Amino acid sequence: MDKAELTSAVKRRRTFAIISHPDAGKTTITEQLLLFGGVIRKAGTVKGKKSGQFAKSDWMDIEKKRGISVTSSVMQFDYQGKRINILDTPGHEDFSEDTYRTLMAVDSAVMVIDTAKGIEPQTKKLFKVCRMRGIPIFTFMNKLDRDGREPLDLLTELEELLDIEAYPMNWPIGMGRELKGLYDMHNQRVTLYHPTDEQHPYLPIDPDSGEIKGDHPLKQESIYQQALENVQLLSEAGNQFDPDKIAKGQQTPVFFGSALTNFGVKTFLESYLTYAPAPAAHKMRSGQDLSPTAPDFSGFVFKIQANMNPHHRDRIAFVRVCSGEFDQGMDVTLQRTQRKLRLSNSTEFMADSREAVKTAVAGDIVGLYDTGNFQIGDTIYTGKQPIEFPRLPQFTPELFVKVTAKNVMKQKSFHKGMKQLVQEGAIQLYRTYMTDDYILGAVGQLQFEVFQFRMKNEYHSDVVMEPMGAKIARWVDPDQLDEKMSSSRNLLVRDRQGAPLFLFENEFAERWFKQKYPDVKLTEKLSTD
Ligand code: G4P
Repeated sequence: MDKAELTSAVKRRRTFAIISHPDAGKTTITEQLLLFGGVIRKAGTVKGKKSGQFAKSDWMDIEKKRGISVTSSVMQFDYQGKRINILDTPGHEDFSEDTYRTLMAVDSAVMVIDTAKGIEPQTKKLFKVCRMRGIPIFTFMNKLDRDGREPLDLLTELEELLDIEAYPMNWPIGMGRELKGLYDMHNQRVTLYHPTDEQHPYLPIDPDSGEIKGDHPLKQESIYQQALENVQLLSEAGNQFDPDKIAKGQQTPVFFGSALTNFGVKTFLESYLTYAPAPAAHKMRSGQDLSPTAPDFSGFVFKIQANMNPHHRDRIAFVRVCSGEFDQGMDVTLQRTQRKLRLSNSTEFMADSREAVKTAVAGDIVGLYDTGNFQIGDTIYTGKQPIEFPRLPQFTPELFVKVTAKNVMKQKSFHKGMKQLVQEGAIQLYRTYMTDDYILGAVGQLQFEVFQFRMKNEYHSDVVMEPMGAKIARWVDPDQLDEKMSSSRNLLVRDRQGAPLFLFENEFAERWFKQKYPDVKLTEKLSTD
């Protein structure tokens, strides 16, 4: 690709993460988007019915339906001349670290909200991460075909709880059984709702009166008049549409709709493509910006997942391309080790199959078959100029268990599984100083459950987990460490890189330690490897 081709290819890319509280409709809307992209032909392809016992976690569900796990992570399709990359995120808060890393690899986010529920705690948490990155956020208020909360209340709640300006791109005419359509201020039209027919016709609006042009029975209905009043109120007293603020993540365009009945989804997608940014310059660790059209290839690993396909025992490192052009078989430098690697085996993500990727540019995600070379946060690049992207922050674990293999004869598979799952970033591993016991640390309980489930299913290793409860993990400078500092109120362990830390029983134990050793510096967070 020459410079002009690369520039135009990058401009076509739109890469976003889709975030929501579980059950808000993330999967359903993703499916509709894939239908528009022609990647799948019927709804229900991405995820079938949830089976009760696994319903609590996307992950388990995905695990169970092995064959589609890839498809649920990264999906790519073309629409109206744009190439769209959707990165799915686990809805459950126990996996917020995974979501966090995924958000580091996208240029915008789509937040799906259930109109009956409004902003739920998990949405708030995920949203905060988007704000921290300053990426544009597009909001889809879903399930309009059901009775939900007052749209004005939802907007107010969004603004107050998330501290962002909300700008409605359209407005519901009724809701639930009374749903008649959407008043689309942005496109100056009313979209009529048909519960059983996915064709939703448009009626043009007269720009002077703001009314539907000509005669239409809907104009006589009070529900329509009410929507019109709200629209007028919003145009006089609401926020001004501001693409600049959207680009900075200070204003979120809000779309109402119903993913299940495919109502409002197309309008949403088309507006998203108009206002969402193409890949921009990426900040390097040095603080300098790297242009997405810089000629040398660069990217970083934001996720590693093992055994995505039960037929091939493989591990895939997900790389976000940040500059240049990725080519199958190219040689790259792995920044952490300065070793050269040949990327001969890679995969692109589609909804129903994994296809070999030949070229990819900034914004695209490539999956590299990994034989243990990569760690989360790794930078790879070509060219003589060294490139390093910032490390991906790691959440400090709050829950801990002691873990052993049930069958002492099966140590080999236990160690192998442990090594791979830890490297994937699924869970944190610590070893005790005195006895070299294995301690696992996680942000949420479900991470342990997934670990146990995957150890059994993927490595045929039954593990025994002895809960240690909540602890406060604090790293200590090795030069200041004296093993005598360990007491009954704390446990001294090493992390995977050998760095020492204390696991304190509670805040009291931590305070006690600080009083006793006022000069010893304790730190909460450690960057990932
Ligand atoms: P998630 O990925 O965010 O967890 O949500 P998902 O799409 O799985 O949707 C959760 C439930 O909400 C599903 O029902 C889905 O059919 C329903 N849903 C999604 N969008 C809409 C909508 O616009 N209107 C209505 N009425 N329902 C919607 P379920 O019964 O829990 O799952 P399933 O057994 O139908 O898959």
